[in-house]
Amino acid sequence: MLLGYEPFAPSAVLTIVFLVSLARLFRQRYMLWHIPSVGFAAPFLTYLTALRFKRGSHQLIQEGYDKYKPGLFKIPLWNHWLVMATSPRLIEDIQKATDDVLSQSDAFHYFFQTKYSVGEDLLDNNYHTRVIQGQLTRHIAATLDELREEVVMAIDRAIPSGDDGWIRVSGVRKLMSGIIARTSNRRFVGVPLCRNEGYHQVNVDFAAAFGENGKRLNNFPGFLRPLVASMYPRTDAHIRSQMKIIQPLVEERWRNRKEFGDNWNGKPDNLLMWLMDEARVEGVEPTLWDLARRVCIANFVSILTTAVSCTHALYELADHRDYVEPLRQEIEAAVAEDGWTKRALQKMRKLDSFLRESQRMHGIHVLTLKRFARKPFTFSDGTTIPAGTLVACASRALHRDNETYSDGDVFNGFRFSSIRDKEGQSTKHQMVVTDKDYLAFGLGRHACPGRFFAANMLQLIVAHILVTYDVKFPDGQSMPSDMFLAEACFPGDGDLLFRKRQEQLAFLATS
Ligand code: HEM
Repeated sequence: MLLGYEPFAPSAVLTIVFLVSLARLFRQRYMLWHIPSVGFAAPFLTYLTALRFKRGSHQLIQEGYDKYKPGLFKIPLWNHWLVMATSPRLIEDIQKATDDVLSQSDAFHYFFQTKYSVGEDLLDNNYHTRVIQGQLTRHIAATLDELREEVVMAIDRAIPSGDDGWIRVSGVRKLMSGIIARTSNRRFVGVPLCRNEGYHQVNVDFAAAFGENGKRLNNFPGFLRPLVASMYPRTDAHIRSQMKIIQPLVEERWRNRKEFGDNWNGKPDNLLMWLMDEARVEGVEPTLWDLARRVCIANFVSILTTAVSCTHALYELADHRDYVEPLRQEIEAAVAEDGWTKRALQKMRKLDSFLRESQRMHGIHVLTLKRFARKPFTFSDGTTIPAGTLVACASRALHRDNETYSDGDVFNGFRFSSIRDKEGQSTKHQMVVTDKDYLAFGLGRHACPGRFFAANMLQLIVAHILVTYDVKFPDGQSMPSDMFLAEACFPGDGDLLFRKRQEQLAFLATS
C-alpha cells in the first residue's frame, strides 16, 4: 500500500494546490470584474501572465498604464490579483487611507510570509521603524565624520589603487553592497562588528532566506504553507546566529544599565543601543531574539535598496561622463568651505539631483505603496475594491511618463537641481522629498524612514568615488539594461573600470 501511495502523494498535493489557487483567483476575478485586466484573465491562462510577471513586471505594468491611465487596472499573480493605481489622484487615495482600511503591514506580511520567518508580531510594536525615523536620522549630522571614515576605508579596501592603471570591477552591485553594509553598520552596531565578515554573512544569508521564504510560500494556498515552511530551512537559523553575535554587546549593555542606570560614560550611540532603549520606553524589555531579528530586518531593508541605487548612479556616471567635471567642482568647492560635513552635503545640489534622477529612472521598486484592503475601499473615481484586495502604485511607469516629467525616458542628471535653483524651490525636489510624482521612497505615513540616512550614505560614497577615481565602462561596453525579478528592478550585470586620480591626492591631504 505504501508503495502505491508514495507516487500518488506529490501529484495529489499539486492537484489540490492548483485547484485551490484556481478557485481563489476565479473568485477574486469575479469580485474585481469591474476593473480592466492586463494579460490573460481567463482561468488557467492567468498563470501564463503570472509567469511573465516574474521577469517582465515592468512591461506588463507599462502596458496597463498606457491603456488605462488615469484609472485602475489589475494583473493576475500566481495566487492573487494585484490592482494598480496609475494617477496621482488615485495614489493620493491610497496614501490617505488609514491602516485599518488599506494596510501596509498586511501587505508586508503577505509578500514576506512573516508568519513563517520573523513572526507576524514584528510590526505590532514597530519600534525599529521609530528608531530609524528618530534617533538614526537625528544623529546623522553629528556622526557624519564616522560614516565618512567608514566609507573611505571600505572603498579603499574594495577598490585598491593599481599603480597608475585601471582596475576592473566585476559585480559592481556586490561590491557596493559590501561598502554599504560596512557603512550602515557603523551606525547600526558600531566598530569592530561593522567590519566583521561573519556578521555580514549572517545578514546576507538572512536576507536571501527571508526573501525566498516569501516567494516560495506565496505559491501555495494558506492551508499548505505550514507544511511547506517546515520542509525548508527557516530564517530562524540565521536569527539564532545573529543572537550569538550580538549577545556579548547586549549583555554588556544590560550590565552597564544595571550598574549605572540609563546613562553611563561611553554609552554607545548606535541602532542596537537605541533599539534596547526604545523597547523599554514602551515598557517591554526586549529579548535577545527580538533584538536580533530587528537588526536582521534593519540590514535587510537598507543594504540591497541602497546598493542598487548606488550601482545605478555609478552606471549613469560612467555612461554620461560629461557630468563628472561639474559634479567634482561642486563637491570640491563645498568640502573646501565646510569640510566633509552635513552642511557641505547640503550644498551638493547637483549630486543630490543626479542621485534622485538615477533613482527616478531605475528605482528598485517597479511598484510602491503596496497595501492590503482590510475593508472595502472606494477610490475617488468611484471604483470600489473588496476586502482582501492587494493594491499598489505603478511608480516606474509614472516616473517615466512624459506628462509627469518632460522627456521622462531621458536621463537628465541636473533635472532637479535646475528646478531647485529657481526661486522658492530650494528645498523641494531634494532626493529625500517624497511626492505623488516621486514614489521611490513611498509616500505619506509609511514613506521610507531610512531615506535620510540612505541619501547621506549615497552622497558620501558617490562623492568620494567621484573625487578619488575616474570611472568608465570597459571598451566596447555600455550601460547594461535593467534586470527585473518580480516587482524589483536591479542594475544589469556589468563591469566598471576605476583609476585613482593623481590630482585627488593633494585635495584629500588638505580637506
Ligand atoms: C535607496 C535606498 C532605499 C529605498 C529606495 C527605500 C525605499 C523604501 C520604500 C519604497 C518603502 C515602502 C514605503 C511604503 O510602503 O509606502 C520603504 C520602507 C521602509 N524602509 Fe526604505 N528604502 C531605502 C533605504 C532604507 C534604509 C537605509 C533604511 C534603514 C536605515 C530603510 C528602512 C525602511 C523601513 C523600516 C521601512 C518600513 C516603513 C514602515 O513600515 O512604515 N530604508 N523603503
